[in-house]
Amino acid sequence: MRKKIVFLTGAGVSAESGVPTFRDSGGLWEGYNVEDVASIEGWYRNPKLMLDFYTDRRRAMMSVEPNAAHRAIAKLEEKYDVVVVTQNVDDLHERGGSTNVIHLHGELAKVCSSRDKETCIKVLPYEIPLKMGDKADDGSQLRPYIVWFGEAVPNIQRALEEVASADIFVVVGTSMQVQPAASLIFASRAEQNYIIDPNTPREVGRLGVNIRVIQKKATEGMAELLEILMQP
Ligand code: APR
Repeated sequence: MRKKIVFLTGAGVSAESGVPTFRDSGGLWEGYNVEDVASIEGWYRNPKLMLDFYTDRRRAMMSVEPNAAHRAIAKLEEKYDVVVVTQNVDDLHERGGSTNVIHLHGELAKVCSSRDKETCIKVLPYEIPLKMGDKADDGSQLRPYIVWFGEAVPNIQRALEEVASADIFVVVGTSMQVQPAASLIFASRAEQNYIIDPNTPREVGRLGVNIRVIQKKATEGMAELLEILMQP
């Protein structure tokens, strides 16, 4: 019986691919008020600004590649059942080889109806800009398939169930400051818990017993974790 590893990842796992994190200095929100470019109120207030912001973020995806941390997470699938619960909207886990990825905050590669997000979802090549007047199949304005502040997180229950059934739980590269994703750490009943982050987040003490902090960047920390978990 293969053991189950569940990862909870954040922007830190993609940092070494050149994707800016949100809350480190000079983070993604540089120059933008997050409420203007990543909230449902911002969409109602200025949809064109949001479409332009996400067109830029989508285009940036064309010049980034998975890093050794993404590949190390995928490599664990050789020995374990691996589920990756990610807050990231990039597709670097999938491109790094992970086959079971749950996106909590949506995906830059997809667009959807602005009338009912969970319908008319489709993949749109990164190079195609999002413009006012672009229509979803239901006739509504096409929008990024992203969970904005103020919107529901449709995959949170599925993620909770996965974390609660993990034998090993690994948090990589998240400041754990955004709910409900941050609360997933309390669902862990795993025999082994790890956190990989050069700046160990504040909540680490609240994970309870048997937490191992690997205070390193994702690529180095995942190399260390592979040593531990891939031993015969
Ligand atoms: N390797 C590992 N961790 C890193 C690295 C690295 N190379 N560089 C930075 N980090 C860590 C930081 O120390 C921090 O704990 O990654 C974390 C990044 O935190 P945030 O920028 O807050 O990103 P994240 O936790 O993913 O944000 C959650 O907030 O804005 C919303 O929807 C957005 O999904 C995002 C959510």
